[in-house]
Amino acid sequence: MRKPIIAGNWKMYKTPAQAKALVQEIRSGLDQTVLSGREVVLCPPFVDLAVVEEAVRGSGIGLGAQNFYPKEEGAFTGEVSAPMLKELGVTYVIIGHSERRQYFKEDDDFVNQKVLAALKNGLKPILCVGEMWSEREANLTEKRIETQLAGGLKDVSPEVFSALVVAYEPVWAIGTGKNATPGQAQDVHRFIRGWVAVKFGKELAENLRIQYGGSVKAENAASLLTQPDIDGALIGGASLTAGSFLSIIKY
Ligand code: PGA
Repeated sequence: MRKPIIAGNWKMYKTPAQAKALVQEIRSGLDQTVLSGREVVLCPPFVDLAVVEEAVRGSGIGLGAQNFYPKEEGAFTGEVSAPMLKELGVTYVIIGHSERRQYFKEDDDFVNQKVLAALKNGLKPILCVGEMWSEREANLTEKRIETQLAGGLKDVSPEVFSALVVAYEPVWAIGTGKNATPGQAQDVHRFIRGWVAVKFGKELAENLRIQYGGSVKAENAASLLTQPDIDGALIGGASLTAGSFLSIIKY
């Protein structure tokens, strides 16, 4: 059985003080019975990581980062390394998010460097893939996803594959209020699992958790998250307030 993983991607929102307050609110609305059936992860901005780590301690809520630079250390002004994140208590890291691909020109090669560096350093990658609206219209969704998977997972060995989470996030659904229908999302999730089965074997594919992301809200969470190949959600906007994030967790 795959345990659903619900992750909040806070993007560039929340100062440290706001982050602390939000975690306290989330914690007070969660009990252990909910957490025994789901994994909950918060991915705040770098500057909030230490505060959030302290605030989630003992709650069972996990900590993720939104990015890092795939070198151990060095003269890379402004960047943050995987060992630095590890020491702060970070477990997961989002890689290949469409905003990084779009605004920071990160390509599949660079995404792959990050996946390999994360795995080497004991961080679990949340690898994001997703097509643009024009690609969906041109019937190129599967081709796009396949290219991103093949590129991002190049040289990943089956021995470490189980640390990975994949997030399917159609670019046209991110922050737009326009989510994929449960059927559209399920189709792509099934395609991803099938692709992984061919490349990494059936057992790893069966155990892989594939999150859906893109305008997930309290109102649509249940219909998406009950699809057979959808194993959780990566949530942007709706993770910024405790009420909506909690209702999604409790879908
Ligand atoms: P959204 O963002 O929930 O605001 O659409 C999802 C994401 O970017 O991970």
